[in-house]
Amino acid sequence: MSKTIAILTGGGDCPGLNAVIRGVVRSAVRLHGWRVLGIEDGFEGLVGDLRWRELDLDAVRGILPRGGTILGTSNRGNPFSYPVEVNGKLELQDVSDRLLENFRQLGADVLIAVGGDGTLKIAQGLFEKGLPVVGVPKTIDNDLRATDVTFGYRTAVTIVTEALDRLHTTAESHHRAMVVEVMGRDAGWIALESGIAGSADAILIPEIPYSSERLCAAIEQRRQNGSRFSIVVVAEGAFAAEGEKTLQVTAEQNLGVERLGGVGHQVARQIESCLDMETRVVTLGHLQRGGSPEPFDRILASRFGVKAVELIAQQKYGQMVALKGQQVVGVEIAQAISRLNLVDPDGELVKTAESLGIMVGR
Ligand code: F6P
Repeated sequence: MSKTIAILTGGGDCPGLNAVIRGVVRSAVRLHGWRVLGIEDGFEGLVGDLRWRELDLDAVRGILPRGGTILGTSNRGNPFSYPVEVNGKLELQDVSDRLLENFRQLGADVLIAVGGDGTLKIAQGLFEKGLPVVGVPKTIDNDLRATDVTFGYRTAVTIVTEALDRLHTTAESHHRAMVVEVMGRDAGWIALESGIAGSADAILIPEIPYSSERLCAAIEQRRQNGSRFSIVVVAEGAFAAEGEKTLQVTAEQNLGVERLGGVGHQVARQIESCLDMETRVVTLGHLQRGGSPEPFDRILASRFGVKAVELIAQQKYGQMVALKGQQVVGVEIAQAISRLNLVDPDGELVKTAESLGIMVGR
């Protein structure tokens, strides 16, 4: 039976999105002869004026190694909470019926939503309103449950690890503390794994509120032992036991979306105030999300794209593709968004770091 698939990428971008799009188009066209339409700029392209383009085999040629997303993305455009101007003021309204009407006009049979927690929650809401939906999980933070890992994460860990290797030489030459702020709103996976791979001396993650006294004591201990420099990796969502997350922009200022950032500078000030040690801050920011996906992420993203089409062929709507062990399978989207995949403070990875002599925030 002939089908038309619409696909969108929502939320922050991440290396591997184009590999998913290519996997969907190639398998939909080659195995089934189906048509694929690309929605532009995430849900924005479905809520306001309909924005889409035809995705045939030519349209996805050469995109496998490319970072970002050829469709564009947005972390705005939540149809269940969409900013609408009323009497000169922005008000958040539920415009999901408008989205469903637009989707009907598009003439597509099913939507593939590629995104993180926010995008998948919207996808689940639309599924509950009757839209046939299949989800593909993405986030460099690796904080989605129901999949062992998300594509983009490994690439981010590689980028941070390379940065830590480079920062070692300059930190050591100048006898400085170097604080490296990395992404991770709620989950400290990037900080923890790159910190282990890049031989950090301290790793601060959101799951383990840190003590600045203990951090200073750990750095001082290293000095006593002859290491006159230290590398501290801080996830952007980390916070002191007596403090809270550091925000650049609050949810009220930014239509419900908090923008994190700045904890690295806070940690640096704490180090400089308790130790006589010159300290510098490096915020890696969106460098962690940009550029080409590494081979593992290209392969996983391609498998996810192909599996999403397989789920559609089996009419398994409301499902999301996920890696479980060695297999890519379908799981309920509802299960994936029920709670986040966080680092276990008492788990093997944290214990490994601590056994290696890395201070993990406590
Ligand atoms: O969700 C992934 C993520 O990388 C977070 O770690 C970070 O807080 C966020 O994206 C930043 O996204 P943006 O600057 O695009 O809003």
